[in-house]
Amino acid sequence: MPADDSNGLVCRGTGLTLEAETDQTDPHVRGVPGYLRDVYRWAYLEPLALTVFDHQAMVSAILWGNYHRLARGVLEELHAGGNVLQLASVYGPFSLQLLEVLGTNGALDVVEVAPVQIERCRRLLADHPNARVIPGDAATPPEGSYDAVISFFLLHEVPEDYKVRIVDAALARVAPGGRAVFIDYHRPGRLHPLRPIMMTVFALLEPFARALWTREIAAYASTPDGFRWRKQTFFGGLYQKVVAERIG
Ligand SMILES: C[S@@+](CC[C@H](N)C(=O)[O-])C[C@H]1O[C@@H](n2cnc3c(N)ncnc32)[C@H](O)[C@@H]1O
Repeated sequence: MPADDSNGLVCRGTGLTLEAETDQTDPHVRGVPGYLRDVYRWAYLEPLALTVFDHQAMVSAILWGNYHRLARGVLEELHAGGNVLQLASVYGPFSLQLLEVLGTNGALDVVEVAPVQIERCRRLLADHPNARVIPGDAATPPEGSYDAVISFFLLHEVPEDYKVRIVDAALARVAPGGRAVFIDYHRPGRLHPLRPIMMTVFALLEPFARALWTREIAAYASTPDGFRWRKQTFFGGLYQKVVAERIG
């Protein structure tokens, strides 16, 4: 059986068997990968999800009050006039914050696969002619060369094979001297008070997240050479920022 593809054939190590076909009759799931439809429908695919989750306060709460700190970890890697590829949209004002740093001479491309999120993101960025929302899969973004490629809490939501594809795709689109920035979950310290809560959340709702507790993001790269890697953890180790800077 081949690795998981955009229709979600296989979902190794999770006990999930995903259907081979996406539902072509439901416009909310059209074209989305199988794992997104089967695991995250409640969070991203239904219009009601926007009402519940698309608020700054909700995003902050889900990240235990760490949103600003983590977003700052991305913003400090950008510069005015840069061109940036954002892999998957993010609830709240994240993309607008990127554009604030990039300025009117910069450019932002957001690749997003879920129809509801594509529409939401287009509304969010409607006043910014230097921003584009590109429908598609983060594992196969359009060809291009960017000063920065951003993955903000995307990797923990995707199966292992997909993590490899997304990390590889991100690295392939980094221009010389540019960087890929990954913000995501990480293994917290053994005595971290939120450790049992996060284990429960992952077990119930986020089956692909726990892998980031045991595997380094750099280890998902098929060709990590040619990049200078650095990693920083936050909030007792629960979150990480990994930057891969293309050398030269
Ligand atoms: C980047 S994650 C961010 C999660 C974060 N908790 C937030 O506040 O939005 C969620 C987004 O990723 C999108 N997504 C998931 N898998 C994707 C893929 N393979 N390609 C493009 N977008 C994807 C979902 O549709 C959703 O909009």
